[in-house]
This record gives sequence, C-alpha cells and structure tokens, in this order.
Amino acid sequence: DKGNHRHFMLKEIYEQPIVVAQTLKSYVRRLDDQVSLPTPDFDLSAIRRVTIVACGTSYYAGMVAKYWFEQFARVPVDIDVASEFRYRQPVMEDGGLALFISQSGETADTLAALRHARSEGQKIAVVVNVPTSTMAREADLLLPTHAGPEIGVASTKAFTCQLAVLAALAANLARAKGRLDPREEKEVVRHLSEAPAAINGALAYDEAIEAMAHLIAPARDVLYLGRGTDYPLALEGALKLKEISYIHAEGYAAGEMKHGPIALIDENVPVIVIAPSGPLFDKTVSNMQEVQARGGKVVLISDYDGIQAAGDGCMATITMPKVHPLIAPIVYAIPVQLLAYHVAVLKGTDVDQPRNLAKSVTVE
Ligand code: F6R
Repeated sequence: DKGNHRHFMLKEIYEQPIVVAQTLKSYVRRLDDQVSLPTPDFDLSAIRRVTIVACGTSYYAGMVAKYWFEQFARVPVDIDVASEFRYRQPVMEDGGLALFISQSGETADTLAALRHARSEGQKIAVVVNVPTSTMAREADLLLPTHAGPEIGVASTKAFTCQLAVLAALAANLARAKGRLDPREEKEVVRHLSEAPAAINGALAYDEAIEAMAHLIAPARDVLYLGRGTDYPLALEGALKLKEISYIHAEGYAAGEMKHGPIALIDENVPVIVIAPSGPLFDKTVSNMQEVQARGGKVVLISDYDGIQAAGDGCMATITMPKVHPLIAPIVYAIPVQLLAYHVAVLKGTDVDQPRNLAKSVTVE
C-alpha cells in the first residue's frame, strides 16, 4: 500500500525518520549513553582487520563504513563489490571480520562471497533488512536493519538504516579497541539520536528539490562530486539517477576531477556537489570552482553556512539542516534520493519498477 504517495519509492523515502529511529533503538541506548550490539557475546576487541563486501547501494553504505571504521576504530579495512571479491583470490588473515551488507540478504554474489570468507576462517557479520534471509541465517553476528519491507526497486530507506547500523558498529569496534572513551561514546549516541529529526528537516526541502528537478531532467549526463564520506554518497546519487531516470550519471571523488573527468564539463553537464560545511568543505569548494571556471552548472547541496560561503554562482542550491559530520551521510542521502525521484517522475519512467532491474538479484 502506497498510502497517499504516488510511488513506493516516495513512500519509502518519507518513512526514513521513523525506520532509522526504529533501527537505532537496537544499537544505541539513550538511557546510559552507550552504543550496543544485539549479539554482545562476539569478541570485537580481537578483530584485527575488516573486509566489507556488498553490491550496488549496499556497497556504497559499506564505503561510508570504511571511513568510519578506520577513523574511529583505527582498524584496517578492505572493501570490494561481491562480484570482484569472489574471484580475485583476496588475502584474508586470521582475526579478520568479514562484513556483508544486503537489503534482501539473498544477493547471489554477496552470499557466495560470504561462504568463501567463512571457508577462509573469517568471522561473519551481516547487516541485512530481511531477518529470515539466507545471509541472516549464516551470520555469526547478525545486525538487522529495521527498515521494513522495501518495495521500490531503487533502495532508499534500507540504505540510511544500513548507515545507522554501520555507524553504531564502528563505535562498538572503537570502544572494544579502547579508542572511544565514555565521553566520546556519549557524543556518538547524541549525534546518532539526532539523525531522525535531521532527516525530517531534510524532507522539508522536497518541494524545492522537485522544482529544481526541472533543471536536471533535460540533461544527458550528470556528475556528482563529494569528498570523504560524501564521496560514496556521490556514487549513490549517480546510481539512483541512472537506474530510475535513465540519465547517464557518474560520481567522482571531488579531488579526482582534475585527473580526467573535468574534460567532460560544459554548460550541458550539471554537476551536483555534496558538501556539508566541515573539515573538507574548502577542498570540495575549490574543486567546485574549477568546474564553474569551465562553464559547469553546479547544484550545491550544503547547509546554511556552506551555501552562504560558496552558493554564489551556483545554478541552484539545496540547504540542509546543519548536522554533525557523523550523521551527514545519512541526512544528505535524502536530497540525493529526492532529486533522482523527481527527475524520474518528470521523465515519465516506471519509478518503482525501472527497466531491466529486479529487486533481488539471486543469479550471478
Ligand atoms: C540500487 C539497488 C541495488 C542493490 C543491490 C544489492 O538502488 O537497489 O544496487 O543495492 O542489488 O542488493 P541487496 O542490498 O539486496 O544485496
């Protein structure tokens, strides 16, 4: 049932404040300001290395997690898409945790990668949205997302719920490694708990984004740029746009533009820049200005401070609530999803059932 929404995808985008809050309930305790895992008997402190494997949008959630695990827990992380991981003979040493992320829990490549990692002696952690799925059954450490059934083929609420679980896992790992003192843990809990309200704040820009979609819909190619945890978000934005609007889109690390892709820039290629104000903001803005100097039309997604500092000269801006960098990827996922959605609606595509795609990819 789509409720009063035109598509399942839009309904699922709007469910995010509730389902992220629901998911966080299992992983953060406001009462004593602690992060927690549903299966606490797992010895995280012994983990020496994490290998993350997933496909598509779930893989991009994993990319964000790599930044978090390394930054907070100082644990080395390897990450790959499942279809490559399976066949490249990856080196997995003792004491490794292999982490698989999947909405469905049935994706063939991810499942095969899981079984391979087990045969190589890795502990198996699974972030999955379907608790009865094959991957859920095969996990040593099951970390469910509580997004509820996701019907739209394009993943939305599962992604933000995955990020919520992964942030909590990063904090758990950091604590187990002695790298998160109670005061820092309290801060993490506070920031994560702010995510649902911030997502609500982001949803308030739906109409503005709908109006802006008219600027993107005529394009043949669109680029997305971001740095740090906003880089995977740029990749996710491009994937969302491709799969439901059929517009060609690519995501790049903002700093990579000058190594090739900037040659694509002209007034016909809109560039979506994802840049919350923070430590990497100035760097991203200077990449954005390089694009503008070559006639590129920029849409800047930032907060009020960011738009004030760098919004002049942009084709359009989207103002997000000001949030802590930890939850920025969760909150900035919303405008990225809404933009793809509204462009697809303008293009008249079958938003919930895009051509050539299946919700669950159970063949290799
Ligand atoms: C994109 C999308 C796909 C899935 C991918 C993995 O919107 O939905 O890229 O993310 O097929 O699926 P799961 O997460 O079920 O393993």
